[in-house]
Amino acid sequence: MAINPLQEKGQATKSIDPCILVIFGATGDLTSRKLLPAIYNLAREGQLPAQFACVGFARREKTHDEFRDEMKQAIESFSRVKPIEDSLWSSFKEQIFYHISDFDNDKGYESLQKFLATLDAKFGTKGNRVFYLATQPSFFPLICQKLHQFDLIYPQDHPQKWSRIIIEKPFGHDLDSAKALQKELMQYLSESQIFRIDHYLGKETVQNLLVFRFANSIFESLWNNRYIDHVQITVAEEIGIGSRGLFWEESGWIRDIVQNHTMQLLSLVAMEPPVNLSADAIRDEKVKVVQSIRKLSEDDLANEVVRGQYGEGFINGKEVIGYRKEGNVDPNSNVETFLALKLYIDNWRWAGVPFYLRGGKRLPKRATEIAITFKEPPGVLFQSPEQPNDPNVLAIRIQPDEGIALKINCKVPGPSSTVQPVKMDFRYGSYFGMSPPEAYERLICDCILGDSTLFTREDEVFSSWSLITPIIEYWKKNPTKDFPNYAAGSWGPKAADDIIEKDNRKWRLI
Ligand SMILES: NC(=O)c1ccc[n+]([C@@H]2O[C@H](COP(=O)([O-])OP(=O)(O)OC[C@H]3O[C@@H](n4cnc5c(N)ncnc54)[C@H](OP(=O)(O)O)[C@@H]3O)[C@@H](O)[C@H]2O)c1
Repeated sequence: MAINPLQEKGQATKSIDPCILVIFGATGDLTSRKLLPAIYNLAREGQLPAQFACVGFARREKTHDEFRDEMKQAIESFSRVKPIEDSLWSSFKEQIFYHISDFDNDKGYESLQKFLATLDAKFGTKGNRVFYLATQPSFFPLICQKLHQFDLIYPQDHPQKWSRIIIEKPFGHDLDSAKALQKELMQYLSESQIFRIDHYLGKETVQNLLVFRFANSIFESLWNNRYIDHVQITVAEEIGIGSRGLFWEESGWIRDIVQNHTMQLLSLVAMEPPVNLSADAIRDEKVKVVQSIRKLSEDDLANEVVRGQYGEGFINGKEVIGYRKEGNVDPNSNVETFLALKLYIDNWRWAGVPFYLRGGKRLPKRATEIAITFKEPPGVLFQSPEQPNDPNVLAIRIQPDEGIALKINCKVPGPSSTVQPVKMDFRYGSYFGMSPPEAYERLICDCILGDSTLFTREDEVFSSWSLITPIIEYWKKNPTKDFPNYAAGSWGPKAADDIIEKDNRKWRLI
């Protein structure tokens, strides 16, 4: 590929401690699609410590070599960079191992402890550990308890070595269960050893939100209720639930996407500038946003929150089945695959500015976007009641086609003073000339570095569940009778349009 003359130089890599990464659930979907390709790409880019080993932990019988072969296949299928580099792979595979055990088997942890000690001696990994829990959430407390029982977790202030746990989402299924889970984990770990993953935070575009807002004075000075009319956050997926029917029946869109990803986007876009870039300073400001969201009244829950479930329809011209016909789904299921709602953040910056959130499965396209719509200019010069100017819109595209676009009004060349909206467009791919790293690469690397900025803190999780739990409870008390209420391939139920159109606004065409 030709060298892009505009490409910026990357940041110098920080020094990184030797360590062993142990993946619980190493034969699962997440490990093969995301974690192993991420680790390979970190190795390829020289971002792993020189002294490093990776151990997969699961109960299926297999040898180290069989696990390595499967890992190679997974990387070949899912890595963002292909093909696999044979010379790198032949040395890297020697640092990968497999450990067979059930999660509740004491002997498995006893032998794991001895095995990790032999790897420390062989690779110089100095006792440092990252335990990645890529398992069903019900196993999180059990695994932590066993790791503690077999001295695999050290006290936080150990002078020579450290241990950290990465926990997959979801962290609880409502406020009470999240608090109960936290209480259990606190018996074995301290908060600074827990890295709760929300892979949206590992995305370059999401991290760029902070840079964009706080390194550009032109936008930050407009970022308030004086200039902003409203904000729309869209998380749209084209795919259905695939083979995850069992998971989806327990989760639904609100738990899988809104409680974590959407709330993270909302808090990054609405937070105040942090006092510095430390993990806690940033997370303090994010928590304040979620805590300032106005509580939803019974009336809001009935009228400003719209749930949906997809029926059959067409995606890209291909006929697809409805949610209730998917595998492992109750044919009368009331689980939502779509949600739209309106929120207010009651603080000085945002008072009176509505935030409209929408998202769901089987929508016409995959797109995650934050759109800031500015107030209209006074209608005295270039607009008439018949032909008002379009408001300026700043659209931050999180995926795909990562970038930022600003819609402004311009004069059409010629003798008349016709005004037309045009778009200034920045795209990551074309400007930086490279595909951004996968979120999991950044997050695994940050955990090894001990940097928790891009992981969710306990109080962030609780405050987000405090907002979401009343919605879930209201739905339980008031089951819907109109599911399925949108066709696959449409932008959701009609009622979702109503919540924004009754305010004389419209969802953006994406
Ligand atoms: N998949 C995704 O795209 C995705 C995305 C975001 C978050 N997550 C989260 O990541 C976690 C893992 O998801 P997944 O989709 O990878 O799950 P999965 O495909 O069902 O994998 C589960 C893993 O756990 C192992 N396992 C289950 N019970 C065990 C036991 N008693 N003892 C030892 N090993 C056991 C399985 O090993 P064997 O069956 O081989 O024994 C398998 O390796 C979940 O919390 C999920 O919510 C997943």
